[in-house]
Amino acid sequence: MPGRLLRVLSEPVPLRFLLLRALDRRFDFLGYRWKLNLGSLPYPEYGYGLLNAALLAKRLGHARMAAIEFGVAGGNGLVALERHAVRVARETGVGIAVFGFDTGTGMPPPCDHRDMPYRWQGGYYRMDPERLRARLRSAELVIGEVGHTVPAFCRRAELPPVGFAAFDLDYWSSTRAALQLFEAPAARLLPRVACYFDDIVGDLESAHNEFAGVRLAIAEFNDAHAMRKLAQVRGLRFYGPRIPRLWHEQIFVAHLFDHPDYGRPLNDITEMPLTAAPAPGAVWTRV
Ligand SMILES: C[S@@+](CC[C@H](N)C(=O)[O-])C[C@H]1O[C@@H](n2cnc3c(N)ncnc32)[C@H](O)[C@@H]1O
Repeated sequence: MPGRLLRVLSEPVPLRFLLLRALDRRFDFLGYRWKLNLGSLPYPEYGYGLLNAALLAKRLGHARMAAIEFGVAGGNGLVALERHAVRVARETGVGIAVFGFDTGTGMPPPCDHRDMPYRWQGGYYRMDPERLRARLRSAELVIGEVGHTVPAFCRRAELPPVGFAAFDLDYWSSTRAALQLFEAPAARLLPRVACYFDDIVGDLESAHNEFAGVRLAIAEFNDAHAMRKLAQVRGLRFYGPRIPRLWHEQIFVAHLFDHPDYGRPLNDITEMPLTAAPAPGAVWTRV
């Protein structure tokens, strides 16, 4: 308890925001977008990516989209993704098919130093598939090595386009294999896919870096693809009334420059007229 109190009190966030979050966690009265901004729901990063993906899907005329968690382990993230999908569908009217990819038997052995074996080893994070399946309402578990399951998934013609993907496979080799998703034909994906990368930030002990791990997989993907790129969304934590969080640094977009819908205009603001001149002698204020 003292640790938790200390953590809350040490947050560099106005107390009124923290109070609002605490009250919402207790009494559940805020709207979904406010909950995401304050972090009063688990895995707000999933909700944020999903909501924005669904809004894009809607503007492009899709009634349904798909969302993926790569790396499921016990299933807390997938259960949360499923719950966010229900809320986002209610907010946007876009139906969301949820998928979770995992070996089902935990981490495979690391291939070499690029898998950062000082952080992860084979056999970590085993799943109990039966227990998890009993908790899931609609999500599909795709069991197997992502190197095999992702290409097969991309060939499934009946699926709606993927709009959100969370990458939590830890290894360079596994993330690199999962990124084959973004080599799929344009019909399988939205033109900009919201992504969350779990293993790119941390403390000195983790020492995430561009020469190994997930950051290396992202850099290699970008080097190998001229018309499809993964790029971080910058400035997110300052954008909107939100409590700054580490996950704001972990949201990326997969840009499919070769997607037929990539350049479809979506902006509502198409005019920026000059504001009326202030009365003579009036104080110059921001409009
Ligand atoms: C850190 S855990 C995921 C935690 C989960 N996202 C959560 O929030 O609760 C990483 C998972 O990635 C899976 N994984 C790693 N490499 C894989 C691969 N090549 N194919 C399939 N699953 C893999 C492991 O089995 C492990 O369960």
